[in-house]
Formats: sequence, C-alpha cells, structure tokens
Amino acid sequence: ALEQLPLSIEVNGKMQQVNVEPRVTLLDFLREQLQLTGTKKGCDHGQCGACTVHVDGKRVNSCLSLAVMHQGKKITTIEGLANGDELHPMQEAFIKHDGFQCGYCTPGQIMSAVACINEGHANSKDEIREFMSGNICRCGAYPNIVDAIADVKNGGQKA
Ligand code: FES
Ligand code: FES
Repeated sequence: ALEQLPLSIEVNGKMQQVNVEPRVTLLDFLREQLQLTGTKKGCDHGQCGACTVHVDGKRVNSCLSLAVMHQGKKITTIEGLANGDELHPMQEAFIKHDGFQCGYCTPGQIMSAVACINEGHANSKDEIREFMSGNICRCGAYPNIVDAIADVKNGGQKA
C-alpha cells in the first residue's frame, strides 16, 4: 500500500478526519473516497471546469489540486449547495432558464456561477461570459447559463 497522510477537512459542513495518498487530487478524493460524485471529471487537466468546487468560498478546479493541500479548509460541492430540500437560487435559475442539456457540465457551471456573483463579476452578460469562460459546455447551453446567472444577480430569483 502507498503511504497515506492524515487529512482534516470540512466538506459540506461536515468535518472529515481521513487518510489520503499524497498524490490523490481533491477531485478524486471527493468522488472516490467520499462518494460525492456530483462533482464531475471532464478533462482532468484544468481545461473544462466540470470539477469546480469552492474552497473557503473561492472556486477552484479540483482536478488541479491535491487533497492533502487542503488541510483545515472548508470545501463546498454541488451536494452542499441546497438548503435541505430547498434548492439554491442558482439551481432554481438553471432549471427556470434551461441552463443545461446533458447536465455533465452543470455542477461545475453552478459552483462557478455562484462564485462569479460573489466575486462581483456578474455585472453584465459580457462580464458573466468572460468570468465563466473556464467552464466549457459541449452542449452549447451558454446563452441560457448566462441568462440564469444574470437572473440571480438581478434578484429575479427568490433568495
Ligand atoms: Fe477539472 Fe476539467 S476536470 S477542469
Ligand atoms: Fe451538456 Fe453542458 S449541458 S456539457
């Protein structure tokens, strides 16, 4: 067996004390060790954004960082976004605006979209397009994704 390192990490509000191999990415840790498969693996090389999660509130491509680098950090995945049975406003907006087709890119799009607004980078559709450009959608749902984000930004969704 390969060497494992202890890791304390909070995921979706729950503290996890685990052992992980030093080479395991945050993405594989979430999907394979915690069975949180909502976060998708598209390219595994930082090119598509399907693996986007929040680390201490900031969006990161989880395929590009190692789990062991997140000692003591707070991770939020798509599974942690809803409030119980109540969807997050961004999830509601993606449904309302048909912001997905196959849905593979959607968890990453939604995590990125929430961060995009929190960063203050959703002040126009052009700005949204620019700051969402790291999230690729092979189905070409971009116009609807941008509409959904603009709707949340402008308060069109109930909070
Ligand atoms: Fe991480 Fe594509 S899977 S950016
Ligand atoms: Fe299919 Fe975006 S909805 S890749």
